[in-house]
Amino acid sequence: MRIKDHPILNVPTEKNYVTFYFEDQPVCGTADDTIASALIANGFDVFGFTEHNHPRGFFCAIGKCSACLVEVDGVPNVRACITPIREGMRVKMQRGRGKPKW
Ligand code: FES
Repeated sequence: MRIKDHPILNVPTEKNYVTFYFEDQPVCGTADDTIASALIANGFDVFGFTEHNHPRGFFCAIGKCSACLVEVDGVPNVRACITPIREGMRVKMQRGRGKPKW
């Protein structure tokens, strides 16, 4: 859910929207969104699962707790709450600690 009209704040126009993919589904966010804010605005509140299969979302929203770790374009352990979205980026839920591909 997003604010569509506000007497003081600038509300993004359609030109400011960026499309990226979460679990291969197109998700629309604004150019100022982080991955987490765009996902929450689109109704996604589970970003991954712990190694014991418990759902994870976001908690601190300032990059300190690691609750929001996701895989971005194949790179694990990216903090969704402080990472800006980019057009066409591919975000996947992370399960457990993530396995770097090196
Ligand atoms: S929610 Fe705490 S690091 Fe992202």
